[in-house]
Amino acid sequence: MLSSDSKTQQVEVKYTEIFINNGWHKATKGKTFQVINPSTCEVIADVEEGTREDVEKAVEAARKAFQSNSPWRTMEPAARGDLMRKFANLLRRDIDYLSKLETLNNGKPVHDSIGDITLSANCIDYYAGWVDKITGETIPAGHNEFLYTRHEPVGICGQIIPWNFPILMLAWKLGPALACGNVVILKPAEQTPLTALYCAALIKEAGFPPGVVNVVPGDGPECGNAIVVHPHVDKLAFTGSSEVGKIVHKTSTATNLKRVSLELGGKSPLIICEDADLDQAAQVAHKALYFNAAQCCCAGSRTFVHSKIYDQFVAKCIEYANKRIVGDPYDKNTEQGPQISEEQFNKILNYIESGKQEGAKLQCGGKRACDNGYFIQPTVFSDVKDNMKIAREEIFGPVMSLFKFDSYEEVIERANSSDFGLAAGVVTKDLTRALTLIKELRAGTVWVNDYNSFWNQAPFGGFKESGHGRELGKYGLESYYEVKTVGIKLI
Ligand code: NAI
Ligand code: MG
Repeated sequence: MLSSDSKTQQVEVKYTEIFINNGWHKATKGKTFQVINPSTCEVIADVEEGTREDVEKAVEAARKAFQSNSPWRTMEPAARGDLMRKFANLLRRDIDYLSKLETLNNGKPVHDSIGDITLSANCIDYYAGWVDKITGETIPAGHNEFLYTRHEPVGICGQIIPWNFPILMLAWKLGPALACGNVVILKPAEQTPLTALYCAALIKEAGFPPGVVNVVPGDGPECGNAIVVHPHVDKLAFTGSSEVGKIVHKTSTATNLKRVSLELGGKSPLIICEDADLDQAAQVAHKALYFNAAQCCCAGSRTFVHSKIYDQFVAKCIEYANKRIVGDPYDKNTEQGPQISEEQFNKILNYIESGKQEGAKLQCGGKRACDNGYFIQPTVFSDVKDNMKIAREEIFGPVMSLFKFDSYEEVIERANSSDFGLAAGVVTKDLTRALTLIKELRAGTVWVNDYNSFWNQAPFGGFKESGHGRELGKYGLESYYEVKTVGIKLI
């Protein structure tokens, strides 16, 4: 729990301005917004608030950086890869400072911030390796013809990211965009702009030409929307709520049919089979739900447990939830920090109320944790029914919902009966059972005997209303290049 002179205040905030053309700028309209430390509810910075006018300037800078004779467009692929690796190494050089800043702004335990930054640097390196491997193909054609494809950058990419993994989401977006030779206008979430601005300084230090990466902090409806509707933005990548994803999808294409990729919400099922080792399964369920204070789009938020082991499993989940250490994210023993904001905090407590009212059994938690900050106790509900609000909607908070099932046909049907389809999990030692469930589950990622593991080289994304397209891996490149067919007559 936090003392009033929390260590969190020892991190210095260095950048609070808008980053355009490798320079720092005040907001055109002269407004700033407050950034809050969710562990203490204190204001930690006033950040320049980007509006339509600032987005316009960023688009202009990006457009110049993308002109055909520009340093960026004429650079050898290998040199582009070198810049990316330099950026990755600067993230590693500053990991101590950057992880503390991420924790100050987001509230996640500092060891989790270190994990995120390590993954982020590796993601940029991974995509740096792709720069000279993004190839087209030669295609058989007539005797006097030469037919081939070129993969070319899409152009100006607008990237709008959320607050749950501020640096990691920046890396997932910048990696493939830069590898393909695009230019970027990135808008961090209004709750967490600080590390994205620091990363902008590292982009400049790495030596990227001006205008290649621009970072414009601001809110969704004004700053985000300006990117979404801009006719010169060729591609939009959005990560956030399904609600905003739907709006963005509709409005973005209305102006110029820009390419859109979406990474949205989830209500992912985790199926615990009857043969599962109880301890191992409870650990998987615990990690699936509570990781990052349950602020994960792929959180395993519907845990289906076979009726034969249901009661013992509920007991195990309560035991693990009660042991979870919630508090000061700078303390090395802390496992769970605060939720991101007062809005999220209240929303989660309302979901807990609704679970109680609709008849789910509150087994532990259910209240705020700590005296100050947006902390919530690890909470477990058993006897959750499929039609309850907590079973259908994304809570984005540490509230585990345990469902009972009797047959596998039944659980497949129930697991799939959701508008979302981001991820799913299965815990079993039975190979046939696992392979059958993998085939039937309508989700972009299925983990078996594990959950919430990520690989830069493997695609991530959703079926159904969880999104459009894939990020990471070679699939993640596909939405960042255009394919040009070249047909040559040999005369
Ligand atoms: P949000 O979807 O409103 O915000 C995500 C990003 O979109 C932010 O950068 C925001 O400024 C921007 N944005 C918001 N409205 C916009 C608009 N009209 N045009 C363009 N950009 C816009 O998510 P919010 O309000 O922070 O959280 C609400 C819920 O969304 C959460 O409770 C959670 O269920 C879900 N969520 C899902 C995430 C994921 O990783 N898939 C991440 C964050 C939230
Ligand atoms: Mg919102």
